[in-house]
Amino acid sequence: MEVSGAAPMLVQSITQNDVKSSVPPQYIQPQEHRPTTTTATGHKIPTIDLAGDTDLTQITKACSDWGAFNVINHGVSVQLLDDIRKVGSLFFEELPMAERLRYACDPNSPASEGYGSRMLVATDDAVLDWRDYFDHHTFPLSRRNTSRWPHLPSNYREVVEEYSNQMKHLAQKILGLISTSLELPSSFIEDAMGELYQNITISYYPACPQPELTLGLQSHSDMGFITLLIQDNVAGLQVSKDGEWITVDPVSHAILVILGDQTEIITNGIYKSSQHRAITNADKPRLSVATFHDPAKTTTVTPAFKPHRYHPVLYGDYVSSWYTRGPNGKRNIDALLI
Ligand code: OGA
Ligand code: NI
Repeated sequence: MEVSGAAPMLVQSITQNDVKSSVPPQYIQPQEHRPTTTTATGHKIPTIDLAGDTDLTQITKACSDWGAFNVINHGVSVQLLDDIRKVGSLFFEELPMAERLRYACDPNSPASEGYGSRMLVATDDAVLDWRDYFDHHTFPLSRRNTSRWPHLPSNYREVVEEYSNQMKHLAQKILGLISTSLELPSSFIEDAMGELYQNITISYYPACPQPELTLGLQSHSDMGFITLLIQDNVAGLQVSKDGEWITVDPVSHAILVILGDQTEIITNGIYKSSQHRAITNADKPRLSVATFHDPAKTTTVTPAFKPHRYHPVLYGDYVSSWYTRGPNGKRNIDALLI
């Protein structure tokens, strides 16, 4: 088996090779970023029913107060949600490491397709996330090359393709509701996106011997327009609300909508992107599937209302700066504020 010198460093190789009671130093967060025990404030992320005519005031409230909400009766079959979680967990849990490494992403190029762990452009001082992932490039169709996706389990590629198509459809519907809720034409955001780019990232968070020192995924907001996320039954995702971290309880057949930074820009800050992170736990691995909907790198996103509160941004520039500087909460979008 030829594993090149450039093979990515994976959390799964740490957890499989060493039966350790401590995490390697690169994964230890500075004190101020470590997860604190959550206080029970009773805050609960909103849930919106998409059956029939959606109440747009609920959309407005969820998008301005939270930047994230669950949707139910979303039209995607429960079977498909279960299937993608299942093929994802088979890939991470049943395939031998050597087999998984056949799909290794290019560790030197951020957001490259395949199996990997490091999210940002490599620097010596960056603290690493306790997470491995498989990233799939799914739209536009010219980027979709299923031969680079796992061949096992045998239905893997078929499930991811179907999931991709259904998530795109749902994303378009939600972007339409968001546009309409601001009295813009329903196709406004979709038109502003130009060509729709979609990536699907299956994240796998191995159980961690020291969850109090680590993060599964550091605090960030998503770069693009909207993310549709499902998780398994292990909690770990937290969203920031009024300065507190609120754990998003897994609801197995709901889909979590997360507004990204381009939605904050185009709505001129009326709607906010959600700052979120993932924590780890000592007992169980956790799996999530995030589907990102972004503009083309050549698209410039500009606020739809005046006076502009954000500088327009070329999406390709935004992405490169995000991967180089790191997210550090919402620092990248905050830097565009006028
Ligand atoms: C992401 C993300 C959260 C999770 O991939 O951008 O926020 O629960 N994932 O995996
Ligand atoms: Ni995210």
